[in-house]
Amino acid sequence: MKTSPLWRLATEQIVMDSMVWNNSLGRRISLREGDITRLAADAIVNAANSALAGGGGVDGAIHRAGGPEIMRELDAIRRRIGRCPTGSAVATGAGNLSAKFVFHAVGPVYRDGSHGEPELLASCYRACLELAEERGVRTIGFPAISTGVYGYPLEEAARIALREVASHLNRPESAVEEAVFVLFGKPAYQVYAAALGGIH
Ligand code: APR
Repeated sequence: MKTSPLWRLATEQIVMDSMVWNNSLGRRISLREGDITRLAADAIVNAANSALAGGGGVDGAIHRAGGPEIMRELDAIRRRIGRCPTGSAVATGAGNLSAKFVFHAVGPVYRDGSHGEPELLASCYRACLELAEERGVRTIGFPAISTGVYGYPLEEAARIALREVASHLNRPESAVEEAVFVLFGKPAYQVYAAALGGIH
């Protein structure tokens, strides 16, 4: 029977096959569907805003699950640096979460893709990976930054996120062993699974 790519993507077997990417250095990228606050990793990434003021989506979930300590740390960071520019990230502890750190990354608001959005989104992932290296983080969880309230098209965001993370994991000196993308809902998971198939 001839199968179309769409049909293949919709089957569990194909999705399972494309869930993990390994490189020759033994580093991996894996995909999970679910709530990032439940992930056991050294660090999890928050999709924050420049004011570091909390909000809905991932940000709301992280502050709810992590408790008030995370916001207290952000208050201190805000007093020190003011706003966190789009494309960058700051680190706090993880409060009641099982991670050691939360990296609060500020993704771009998507307008039409010609206002520097791809580079700013890529820069968010690089900033988080730098924070990870500085702290000896071996496992890190990412949400699909900017793809909720900030409106970034999921397919394009997935390609950028996976490309940046894979390129970092291909560096011999990296201490990061595994990056987990935690996608909210099956459609988002399937978009990432398809994009992961194109990463080398
Ligand atoms: N775990 C994993 N992914 C989640 C969760 C969760 N608990 N909650 C939402 N998501 C998904 C969304 O479905 C979306 O694909 O995370 C992605 C990012 O969505 P947002 O959280 O809306 O983040 P973003 O688009 O970057 O917008 C940032 O939202 O709440 C505010 O303070 C935040 O102002 C900032 C803005």
